[in-house]
Amino acid sequence: MKYALIFTLLTTPALAQEVDFSDPALIGFGEEVFTDFCMACHGEEALGGNGPDIQGSILSDVTQAIRGTDQMESVDLSEGEPESVTAYLMSLAPKVAETKLRLEATRRQRSE
Ligand code: HEC
Repeated sequence: MKYALIFTLLTTPALAQEVDFSDPALIGFGEEVFTDFCMACHGEEALGGNGPDIQGSILSDVTQAIRGTDQMESVDLSEGEPESVTAYLMSLAPKVAETKLRLEATRRQRSE
């Protein structure tokens, strides 16, 4: 069901993304990336711990965060890993991800 929802999103032109975040293989790899690089702070299933609950984060959230913030050190991921960890985070909370994608699409349209 989760995958189906994201798939619907991806087929909505305004929300189209180049990466298929609903790809189960990408999600599976993303879970490994999350376990290795993020779980110590963000907790099991990204529900929070030493860092906030980040379920449903979209790619822009992840790319921004891994560059480093006041409270989060930068994380050096390899090519494709930001996308895969995003796919995993989106799969955990598709509705949160949907809202974020819609907001982002609206902002993008306004700035065009
Ligand atoms: C050393 C601990 C630590 C690690 C490791 C870590 N984070 Fe964070 N992260 C934090 C903290 C603390 C915050 C909250 C402070 C902030 O947003 O500046 C945060 C914030 C975030 C946010 C923004 C959340 C929001 O609501 O704005 C995202 C997205 C995020 N992290 C993703 C990741 C991902 C993906 C990884 C693994 C690749 C990761 N983090 C690894 C500690 C960590």
